[in-house]
Amino acid sequence: MKLSYLKMLFLLGCIVYFGDITSLSNHFVDAKIFKNFSEFEIEEQLKVINKPAMQIIKTTQGDLYGCVDFYKQPAFDHPLMKNHISHYKMQESPILQKSRSNNEKFGYLWENGIGCPIGTVPIKRISKDELLRLNMFSDKFRPQGSWNFTYSQYNVNANQHHFAVSRTKTKGKSYYGAAMIMTVNDPKVEFEQYSSARMHIQIGDDFIQAGWTVNPKLYSDKRTRTFVYAKIGENQCYNNMCSVGIIMVRPDISLGMDLGPPAIRGSPVGVYCEYGIFKDKANGNWWLKFGGHDIGYWPEKIFQESSATNIEWGGEVYSASMPSPQMGNGHFPVARTGYDAIIFNRTIVDESFKIVENIDREAFSDNTRGYNLIDGTFSEPHMINKLNYGGPGNI
Ligand SMILES: *[C@@H]1O[C@H](CO)[C@@H](O)[C@H](O)[C@H]1NC(C)=O
Ligand SMILES: *[C@@H]1O[C@H](CO)[C@@H](O)[C@H](O)[C@H]1NC(C)=O
Ligand SMILES: *[C@@H]1O[C@H](CO)[C@@H](O)[C@H](O)[C@H]1NC(C)=O
Repeated sequence: MKLSYLKMLFLLGCIVYFGDITSLSNHFVDAKIFKNFSEFEIEEQLKVINKPAMQIIKTTQGDLYGCVDFYKQPAFDHPLMKNHISHYKMQESPILQKSRSNNEKFGYLWENGIGCPIGTVPIKRISKDELLRLNMFSDKFRPQGSWNFTYSQYNVNANQHHFAVSRTKTKGKSYYGAAMIMTVNDPKVEFEQYSSARMHIQIGDDFIQAGWTVNPKLYSDKRTRTFVYAKIGENQCYNNMCSVGIIMVRPDISLGMDLGPPAIRGSPVGVYCEYGIFKDKANGNWWLKFGGHDIGYWPEKIFQESSATNIEWGGEVYSASMPSPQMGNGHFPVARTGYDAIIFNRTIVDESFKIVENIDREAFSDNTRGYNLIDGTFSEPHMINKLNYGGPGNI
């Protein structure tokens, strides 16, 4: 790996460790689940996402982002946000956890060495074809939590979603945030599939996910990229692609960033990234942190409920048809350093806004023929609440 690349990952909150990956071949059966959108609907959606940009900039890996005026972000199209724009400032900072290095600059992520001009934020450009593709699939394609799923070795085709997660167990609790550190892996995924590793925070009927995903329909490639997803009321979207999307606060960092290239499984080099979602005690907004940096937030008022009821960490895959894709690094966990996809240093924020390490939790895989996990109770130096997860899928 090149030094500049390692530096980039490090500053993003991703650190070199011992890790990861191989790939298996698998066969894919094509499936067609179409949903019709009118030309008009597509054009309207495109207008929301591809806001007029002050300039178009490129990441060092060649992705195009538009520099959009902070107040013209898709999230400000939300009816509840339209009349309240003046309340929002470019650099609000949550009270809950002091950012480790908020003044750090991310210019080196961009070809121009700077990022976007002050007062604007980078938003990934999307083409009409990409949007059509994203809309072409059934609602089942959308990310979900594992709670509605039950374990079955045989019920393979009904769900299309599969999970290997560790999740909070106690009923009736309230949470104000969660965090994790995760390895970056590159599961093998076909076009009508995705494979994610993420945190899922259930807030009443709404939820937020954050992590990485290999999702060809979303990103038009098979690279491992950062993502967030929000389902709020009737609306759901990735990153900042709609009016319940996240409000980004920095001109020099965005979502959808490529976290590759992958490391080799069993080799002593790998990468891990740190994510957090925290409710700001002062104003109730839900903040996304990436490597200790405040990246953006979802305003409190667009949610029905004010606190989370369930949290889970782990892998989620989807396939429009059999067989299902790989999860994690494509291997069942073997609890050996460098050989598993892992998520560790998981914490939650409790009702009194305290960060808690002792999480009452349960492990869940809906089908252990394809995906499994080891929810570590054993201790390891410098790691707590470790979850080893993954699998070849192929079910
Ligand atoms: C979608 O469009 C196709 C072709 O225009 C049409 O045959 C089909 O019935 C439509 N499906 C739905 C669900 O509206
Ligand atoms: C479970 O299913 C119900 C009904 O389909 C849905 O409303 C709810 O959002 C689902 N819950 C999760 C956590 O996905
Ligand atoms: C993980 O948590 C442990 C225990 O709190 C801490 O010592 C360690 O530094 C953390 N690791 C990282 C990479 O932050």
